[in-house]
Amino acid sequence: MLNDIQEVLITQEQLQTKVQQLGRQISADYAGKDLLMVCILKGAVIFFADLVRHISIPVTMDFMAVSSYGDATQSSGAVMILKDLERNIAGKHVLIVEDIVDTGLTLKYLVENLAARHPLSIKICTLLDKPERRKAEVKVDYNGFTIPDAFVVGYGLDYGEAYRHLPYVCVLKPEIYN
Ligand code: IMP
Ligand code: MG
Repeated sequence: MLNDIQEVLITQEQLQTKVQQLGRQISADYAGKDLLMVCILKGAVIFFADLVRHISIPVTMDFMAVSSYGDATQSSGAVMILKDLERNIAGKHVLIVEDIVDTGLTLKYLVENLAARHPLSIKICTLLDKPERRKAEVKVDYNGFTIPDAFVVGYGLDYGEAYRHLPYVCVLKPEIYN
């Protein structure tokens, strides 16, 4: 384990079990429907890659990159599309796959933005939910884990672009954040 880590919150085993459950649930819920899974880069990339391998129905994928944080641990509230979807989503059932819902500002913006493109439905699947910090109301349809108000990294989540590769979700030592 890396020296910078204070505590592992969610282990590799817990992540894999949960991702498998979510994949089964999503597959059942969208059976017979034209499902498009949208990965929100970069944070959701590991979760997304694991999750889609547990989807047992036909599915297509697209990728979107948004920026709301810069390198800090505080939300600016402003959302910028860095990379848009490649394909039209009209007539599709869209499932947004995110790493974490914190203030909710990013997802609120994303849902409104994608809804304007006339998909058949939009739902949200997030690995982590930090409800204590919510500023904008968002309906989370699939949630892996509800976590307390701590800044976490690993399994796709970063601090200053580092730590995304860690196979578990953890909290760093306080001195790393200062
Ligand atoms: P929101 O707009 O405040 O909900 O924040 C969404 C984005 O902030 C997420 O997609 C993450 O990229 C980032 N974020 C929020 N909390 C954390 C955290 O604890 N660790 C790493 N990134 C986070
Ligand atoms: Mg993110």
